[in-house]
Amino acid sequence: MHARALGPERLRDAVADAAGATNDKNLLCAEIQFVHLPAILFLHCLTSLEIGASLVNPAVHDSFSEYSMSDSRQFSRSVAGLIVLVTGAAGGMGRATARVFAAEGAKVAVTDFSAEGAQAVAAEIVAKGEAAKAWTLDVANRDDVNAVVNDIAAHFGGLDIVVNNAGISVRVAIDDDGYDEAWAKGLAVMLTAHPRVIRAALPYLRKSKCPRIVNIASTEALGATALHSPYSAAKAGVVGLTRSLAVELGRDGITVNCICPGPISTGMTARISDEHKAIYARRRTALGRYGDPEEVAHMTLSLCLPAASFLTGAIIPVDGGLMARNA
Ligand SMILES: NC(=O)c1ccc[n+]([C@@H]2O[C@H](COP(=O)([O-])OP(=O)(O)OC[C@H]3O[C@@H](n4cnc5c(N)ncnc54)[C@H](O)[C@@H]3O)[C@@H](O)[C@H]2O)c1
Repeated sequence: MHARALGPERLRDAVADAAGATNDKNLLCAEIQFVHLPAILFLHCLTSLEIGASLVNPAVHDSFSEYSMSDSRQFSRSVAGLIVLVTGAAGGMGRATARVFAAEGAKVAVTDFSAEGAQAVAAEIVAKGEAAKAWTLDVANRDDVNAVVNDIAAHFGGLDIVVNNAGISVRVAIDDDGYDEAWAKGLAVMLTAHPRVIRAALPYLRKSKCPRIVNIASTEALGATALHSPYSAAKAGVVGLTRSLAVELGRDGITVNCICPGPISTGMTARISDEHKAIYARRRTALGRYGDPEEVAHMTLSLCLPAASFLTGAIIPVDGGLMARNA
């Protein structure tokens, strides 16, 4: 009988029986064997993978334990010298992210749909004696994405970190005449663009000592507001993309994480009056206020530290407690 046909308790018992298991190590081996793989393939995989060696060969496992008990690995908390590409970096969270990374000694590729905006942000960073250069990049344009990513890597001599941040506000009713257009635009900029940028960056990330991808989604991926269905769908897609790529790229040592900002004071929320912002924030967030773009940028920085090497596939709200609050 296939494992899926069994209930959870019977499956656990069957797995334990198959192992004759008296300890966790045997149980894990048996679970992999019983649920996922025919026996021969299973043994072949175990002997060819390091983790397998530690499972079948207690000596390998024990020597690893000894190492981790007696030694303390040193991890850097510096991004100095790393090369960072930020999309949508002319304003809001993208600009804050570019500035925060540059202040920490990273070399920043400031990219945006707005050529003037990107140049202004790069210029203000360079004026402080830090490293940045501007590129005009519409993330919805596949040819632009490939050309600009290659040019950035050629200019700085590689690429370590990608921050997929560019976004637009999309407010449309499901029965609006312009719905199809709003859907296509919203998904092109806030979902389809992300794998395009990542695919273009991948050859460089694979050569990096600290390869990191951070995708900026939204709390609209976790809950929803009426009249924002293309936006919510795009952001929920980014959450799924993040998890899937974290699994797919994990063996390359590339971490992929996602931030879900809550209400943040940027160009995107500028049309909301201060009064309405205050009412919303008091009602909805635990901290009772809108966030500043730098508060998101610092979480992005944290996810990109060399020391953040075991954090991947995480979906992190930076929302002043909006998702935590019930009433
Ligand atoms: N502000 C918020 O409250 C909030 C909340 C949750 C999520 N977000 C998300 O955070 C990200 C940053 O938003 P923000 O609030 O800083 O907005 P913003 O409007 O201040 O900045 C967005 C930037 O993206 C750029 N951009 C737009 N379309 C582009 C394209 N096709 N190609 C390249 N660049 C493009 C804009 O020129 C702008 O500089 C977005 O993905 C947004 O959806 C914002």
